Amino acid sequence: MYDNWENLEKSIIGCKKCKLCNNRTNIVFGYGNKNADVMFIGEGPGADEDIQGVPFVGKAGKLMDMAFEGLGINRSEVYIANIVKCRPPQNRVPEQDEADSCLNYLRNQVILVKPKIIVLLGSTALKNILGRELSITACRGKWIEKKGIHYMPTWHPAALLRDENKKIEFWRDLKQVVEKV
Ligand code: URA
Repeated sequence: MYDNWENLEKSIIGCKKCKLCNNRTNIVFGYGNKNADVMFIGEGPGADEDIQGVPFVGKAGKLMDMAFEGLGINRSEVYIANIVKCRPPQNRVPEQDEADSCLNYLRNQVILVKPKIIVLLGSTALKNILGRELSITACRGKWIEKKGIHYMPTWHPAALLRDENKKIEFWRDLKQVVEKV
């Protein structure tokens, strides 16, 4: 674990801990306010993120930004990261060994940001952070407190692109976050 961003960011350069390194263009480390009260954790970079090296800049990210705008959140006020930092081929779900290899980087980011609230975007984030037995359908919209951090599991923004009905739930979940900060 590193006690400063510079060393943590340096340690990740050229990472070869898992096979996702073979096809990546960029490591997508994280984006936003390194002292944020609210942190968002997604699954892993897609094609746009891989090219730009920034999380949630593709279609799903645009939708998330629209929700942010409606709720008065600016993406530069929060901190955004993913379970894995390199793009899984064809945007498949990260395999367990890939997530496990990458999680210590994310844990270190959480320690440095010290967020009050972590929004878990979708099943992969929920399972890897709070427990493999948990289901996003059962947990979404409900606060879970662990070691002083309040977690809000919600839909992954890509799920909203496939199912319009999830948009209102996503909005309500983020509204709870805004009201709690
Ligand atoms: N989906 C994710 O989970 N993370 C991103 O950064 C982009 C899309």
